[in-house]
Amino acid sequence: MTVHIGAAPGDIAETVLMPGDPYRAKWAAETFLEDPELVNEVRGMLGFTGTWRGNRVTIQGSGMGMPSLSIYANELISDYNARTLIRIGSCGGMQSHVKVRDVIIAMSATTITSPSSGFFREINFAPTADYELLAAAVAAAKNRGTPTHVGGIYSSDVFYAERPDLDEQMVRHGILGVEMEAAELYTLAARHGRRALAVLTVSDHLQTGEALPSEDREKTFGDMVEIALEAAFT
Ligand code: HPA
Repeated sequence: MTVHIGAAPGDIAETVLMPGDPYRAKWAAETFLEDPELVNEVRGMLGFTGTWRGNRVTIQGSGMGMPSLSIYANELISDYNARTLIRIGSCGGMQSHVKVRDVIIAMSATTITSPSSGFFREINFAPTADYELLAAAVAAAKNRGTPTHVGGIYSSDVFYAERPDLDEQMVRHGILGVEMEAAELYTLAARHGRRALAVLTVSDHLQTGEALPSEDREKTFGDMVEIALEAAFT
């Protein structure tokens, strides 16, 4: 048990998928895992462990934003020895060729500030995905025929942004989409020598204002979960 995770030692698998939404953790575990068991419900941040094609997997909610993700990822790494951490979540599309429902596999994650910025101080650290996981996810997406983009994303620390000029700079620099967690996950994985990746579904688009209708979400999010699982066990 840790401060925020009630699981017993050994209840968490070495491979952890991390959606922001705890109910999406429940849905993904019940949909894709065999014999999923609830291993955490502290603060309602549900976590489940089961198996996928015979491999043990935990799906643990991270909450929204880097400070929340940082708490769960730190405890999963340091107290439960998680070795592969894959964020599965939604993002806002930032380029015209990126469409709602497409998948983004994040090679790098740009930030203004993250929970790690305080001690990096003058360093602009470049949070980067694990290459093996990235290559395996790209291959899995290609096999499935899922429209997929691979490149940089922006991990913002606000959903309701007051600086549209920042989004414009991200667009100018080819950033594919915006979310709120991946940069800290990549940073923590680098610090502790673990593997991390973010596989994201474009749920809305900053330029067109289009948003994924709720009835489409399950099928679209399902592709992302299966890409993440295939990447983890390739
Ligand atoms: N901004 C930040 N995070 C997001 C967005 C967004 O537009 N869409 C989904 N996650």
